[in-house]
Amino acid sequence: MSDATPILHMLSPQKHMSPFDVNMAADAGYKVIVPYINVTLEEVTALTQDAIFSRPPNYGTRTGLFIGGKDAILALDMLDAAQKALVPPFGLSTFADPAGSFTTAAAMVACVERVLRTKFNRGWKGTKVAVFGATGVVGFASSIIAALEGAEVTLVAHRGVDRVIKSAEVSKERFGVDLIAKSGETLEQKQAIIADAEVVFAAAAAGVRVLSAEDLALAKNLLAVADVNAVPPAGVEGMELFMDGGELPGSKALGVGPLAIGDIKYKTESGLFKQMINSTEPVHFDFRAAFALARTLTA
Ligand SMILES: NC(=O)c1ccc[n+]([C@@H]2O[C@H](COP(=O)([O-])OP(=O)(O)OC[C@H]3O[C@@H](n4cnc5c(N)ncnc54)[C@H](OP(=O)(O)O)[C@@H]3O)[C@@H](O)[C@H]2O)c1
Repeated sequence: MSDATPILHMLSPQKHMSPFDVNMAADAGYKVIVPYINVTLEEVTALTQDAIFSRPPNYGTRTGLFIGGKDAILALDMLDAAQKALVPPFGLSTFADPAGSFTTAAAMVACVERVLRTKFNRGWKGTKVAVFGATGVVGFASSIIAALEGAEVTLVAHRGVDRVIKSAEVSKERFGVDLIAKSGETLEQKQAIIADAEVVFAAAAAGVRVLSAEDLALAKNLLAVADVNAVPPAGVEGMELFMDGGELPGSKALGVGPLAIGDIKYKTESGLFKQMINSTEPVHFDFRAAFALARTLTA
């Protein structure tokens, strides 16, 4: 490992770089952190090469490029562009986590996996998962992680099924997973999806309730529910912030709450930054690496 100063270049296509991510990077050990805002995909190659050619190749592992923003596909495209811009032996490490979504999704899937394993002695293969908030960045990443593990994942649209159909197409094209797209716009549609689900990921916007006590009462096949929303009202009625495998009131399903997920999310993001700093070779992280680490934290 080089003893060169760890430098992190943080790129965002938005007008702000997330203060949350800046703090996480500093606390993980980066000594110099530079945010770049309003960055376009086309600018990533030049920025990456500017970063690599200014340091000797053995300093490459101490140079990091973080990609934030709020768009999962754009972040993945930027990650690809940065990796393609590397000119060995000049390199750097990359990590995409737009709006914290990749590490949050990884943590949610890992926490539910622990509940399935320890309470039901089963894994993801063939498990029916319904994802609410599927057009959001957390919903998108968690759908793909679970599908890559063999789950049968349904993306639920709360308005306009076209956008989740598009998400399913993109997921097939980029990750080879088959996601089911369904409309959950009416109460009947939503309750039919819930009645069939074995796992629910509640990943809708902050303060939005997606599952009521009445919905839960109909969910006879439901084993586990995860809720990432920490802003009242809870995304799932009866969910407690720190719930981690406890029984949801009025239901046999077990709940995983936002702060139980947040704890693993925090450790995952911090752990990936530390891996970047301490690696002897450049490393490249998206939600798959995040899930691999989150899994070790919930083993
Ligand atoms: N616990 C943690 O550690 C942690 C970390 C990060 C984020 N979060 C939480 O994760 C959640 C998702 O974040 P995100 O960044 O993925 O958000 P996002 O990109 O803004 O997505 C929000 C999703 O919620 C949907 N939605 C909005 N209003 C809805 C409604 N009334 N009914 C059903 N769905 C609705 C949106 O659908 P449309 O596209 O149709 O609007 C979209 O699919 C938020 O609650 C956020 O606070 C938690």
